[in-house]
Amino acid sequence: MSTDDGWSDYLTDYHRSHAGITERLLTRAVHPDVGTPYEWLRSALPRHPERVIDLACGSAPLYDLLPQTSHYVGLDVSEAELRLAADRERGPLLRADAGSLPIDRGSADAVVCSMAIMLLRPVETVLAEVARVLRPGGLFVTIRPVTRPVRIADVRVTVPLLLGLRHMPEVPQRFSRRRLRLRHTAAGLTTIDDRALRFTHPLCDDRDAAQVVEALYLPHVTELRRVAAVQRLARAAGPDREVPISIRRTVAMRLPID
Ligand SMILES: C[S@@+](CC[C@H](N)C(=O)[O-])C[C@H]1O[C@@H](n2cnc3c(N)ncnc32)[C@H](O)[C@@H]1O
Repeated sequence: MSTDDGWSDYLTDYHRSHAGITERLLTRAVHPDVGTPYEWLRSALPRHPERVIDLACGSAPLYDLLPQTSHYVGLDVSEAELRLAADRERGPLLRADAGSLPIDRGSADAVVCSMAIMLLRPVETVLAEVARVLRPGGLFVTIRPVTRPVRIADVRVTVPLLLGLRHMPEVPQRFSRRRLRLRHTAAGLTTIDDRALRFTHPLCDDRDAAQVVEALYLPHVTELRRVAAVQRLARAAGPDREVPISIRRTVAMRLPID
């Protein structure tokens, strides 16, 4: 899958030079009730799912959360991300595009997609592939970054960040709840649960500030602005300071009838 708006090349370069960045960020982001975003995603699956496909798996952090009895397959386009996953003895792994899955029809109990659905275009093709590989009754669980919920006190970190960047972080496509639900329905998937939570990542020092800025997709921000954002964010750091990370989890089920 590719488009000519530059995102494809940007994402290829970004994940080549930043392999494992999402895992580094999200394993330190927590919500008091559900743990990390990965643990929250995992909790939407049955306790012992048999065959799980991890779409756009990156460094495959979800592998470690599944029981050994599960047949996990991680799939991504980035060689660097897959190499890191393999170094961590996660897999099996396939280098493949989410729009054309080398997976048999009706063979998966669950497809998971962490922090990537907003990158996968055209999403209709990807959802059709997800519906094809899921068995009837199988689950499709995604988590994706969203702008809410937030707290008023969050301005203490979001304002310095945005004043430094002078630009909003971007993604290739955004979904409202309704838009994703309609796309699911068109593909033969029914949305059965959809909610957002505010996770927090520690902002204790300049290293935390650098990690947060590094994890953002910023195709139109210069290196100078990125450095300014890290410096401003670092000035807001402190023992109890946190960066909010709002994430929406959507659970859909493959309709039982073809
Ligand atoms: C933000 S990272 C998320 C990685 C991992 N799922 C996680 O949560 O840690 C997005 C991943 O999507 C992958 N990706 C982007 N476009 C893709 C495509 N068309 N097909 C498969 N993977 C893709 C990137 O290579 C990258 O590893």
